[in-house]
Amino acid sequence: MKFFIDTANIEEIKSAAAMGILDGVTTNPSLAARETAPYNELLREICSIVSGPVSAEVLATDYRGMMKEAEELAGIADNIVVKIPTILEGLKAIKSLNQQGIMTNATLVFSPAQALLVAKAGATYVSPFVGRLDDIASDGMALVENIVAIYSNYGYDTEILVASVRHPMHVIQAGLIGADVVTMPFEVIEKLIKHPLTDIGLEKFLSDYKKAQKRK
Ligand code: G3P
Repeated sequence: MKFFIDTANIEEIKSAAAMGILDGVTTNPSLAARETAPYNELLREICSIVSGPVSAEVLATDYRGMMKEAEELAGIADNIVVKIPTILEGLKAIKSLNQQGIMTNATLVFSPAQALLVAKAGATYVSPFVGRLDDIASDGMALVENIVAIYSNYGYDTEILVASVRHPMHVIQAGLIGADVVTMPFEVIEKLIKHPLTDIGLEKFLSDYKKAQKRK
C-alpha cells in the first residue's frame, strides 16, 4: 500500500519524508490556502523534497480552463499529478490529459458511478472521499469496496487513492479492502505508529535493565 501525505505544509512533508515511508503528496486549494507561499512555489518545493507523485489541483471548472491550468501545473515537475474535479467538464479534461501523457487524479469522488466514468476516461488515480461520506452518516469505506470490485471486474489501471482520511482505522480498512494508496494528514501518520502497550513495555524493559545494573 502506498502512503501519501495530504498537506501543502513543507515542514510536515519534510517530517513525513524523514520517516522513510512516504510515497507521495496530495494537495488541494483548501490546504494551499493555509500556507503563505503561492501555490506554484509550494508545489515546486514539494517536488524537490518528494520524488513520488504530487497532486496539484486546478481551480477552473470548464474544460478549456482546466486544460490550460493542467498543462501549467504539469510543467512544474515530472512528478506532478493534476487533480481534476469529477464533473462532466473534468471527465473530458481527464480523457484529453491522459492522451497527452499527463497524470491525473479524479477528485471529489462520492459514488461508484463517478469512479467508473473516470476509469473509463483514463484517470491515473481516483480519490473517493471517505471521511466526508462518514460525516453525512453514509459509509465511505463501502464506496471504496465497490470501486475495488468494479475495477477488478474489468481490469482498470486507475489506482484507488483513499482520501479524506480522518483516523488510523480508515487506513487499516483501506488496507483490508485492498486500496492502492491512502492519503492522510500528518497527525494520522503519527498516530499509526503509537500503541500504549509498546510504550509501557519499553519503559519496563529499560527500568528492569537499570535495576539489574545497580545490583551488579
Ligand atoms: O485532499 C482531499 C481530501 O483528503 C480532503 O480531506 O478532511 O478535507 O475531507 P477532508
